[in-house]
Amino acid sequence: MKKTILTGLRVNSELTLGNYLGALLPMVRLANKHSKDYNINIFVPDLHSIISDIDGNLKSNTIRSIKYYLAAGLELNDNIHIYRQSRVPAHAELAWVLNCIATMGEMSRMTQYKEKSEGRDSANVGIFDYPVLMAADILLYDATFVPVGEDQFQHIELTRNLAQRFNNRFGETFTVPEETKKQVEFMGVNNGIRIRDLVNPEKKMSKSTAGDNCKIMLSDDPARAAKKIMSATTDSLERIDFNLETQPGISNLLQIEALVNDISLDETIREWSGETRYGELKKQVAASVTTLLANFQEKLAAISDDDVEKLLPKGEAYANTIADKKLTEVYEKIGLR
Ligand code: TYM
Repeated sequence: MKKTILTGLRVNSELTLGNYLGALLPMVRLANKHSKDYNINIFVPDLHSIISDIDGNLKSNTIRSIKYYLAAGLELNDNIHIYRQSRVPAHAELAWVLNCIATMGEMSRMTQYKEKSEGRDSANVGIFDYPVLMAADILLYDATFVPVGEDQFQHIELTRNLAQRFNNRFGETFTVPEETKKQVEFMGVNNGIRIRDLVNPEKKMSKSTAGDNCKIMLSDDPARAAKKIMSATTDSLERIDFNLETQPGISNLLQIEALVNDISLDETIREWSGETRYGELKKQVAASVTTLLANFQEKLAAISDDDVEKLLPKGEAYANTIADKKLTEVYEKIGLR
């Protein structure tokens, strides 16, 4: 049986360079490398998108987000399955079953929930519960590898726990995805990827942070993006080193440089370590990001909605077949069938 590599990106707004380097590009590189031997599932978690602002543009944003994969260089073939979550009802159904084996305690510990809800009583229940829907997204397809950024690792661990708990209670049903250390190895990186805010590099780069200079959006004019890199916060140590505690800004630039050019972080660190000219490093990273955005945007403009829409019926028929079979097995195991 072929193993499955699966990922999804929420589509509320435009994506950042963090989304691109943390998940989109790793997925595209893995797909292009392994699609002969693995199933590649790329889906749009459109039901996840409504945990935040519901602005009525989700349908077109969904199409745009699939274009992103193509613009990032995804090479299509029969092993690549592209689908929208809301077109596969089994996701929501399995999430309900998993809700009934997940505990309030473990869900309350989810960092993303704490950050997104900020302790507000008015936070919607979807914000609390979306990691369970994410577990369903993964377990329906028996995915082994789930390339995501570091901020989603806790949800991968939750998924593993729910799969193990279900299997122990009801008999072998789900493939347990690999632990995050193995996920990282498979992605060919040293650690989980967390691209940082350019102004406050202790924080991750996020689309929801106010302030244009903090983040690079995939739609940014490349010259404007280069300026943001040139003005990124660094430190006063005057010596380049990879140290996320003492030099988060510099370390972020090294990380970006390595990922954009698909060279190992170790090699990039070796090249720059000990150098004193931060300006040189910034110029180099700005050039790399400029090239990346210019190529990406050119390719994106050449892809039509039709190009994407014609991929979906096949991907969604495939997804429904696999997902329905797994859901039926789950219903049988818990005694509903
Ligand atoms: P989302 O939409 O918040 O983010 C999409 C992907 O981008 C990664 N990411 C980053 N990586 C590195 N540095 C950053 N600054 C950065 N910011 C975001 C995220 O880690 C993620 O991989 N729940 C998920 C979507 C999802 C999903 C799934 C993913 C739903 N179901 C099943 C995989 C499998 C989410 O909200 O990601």
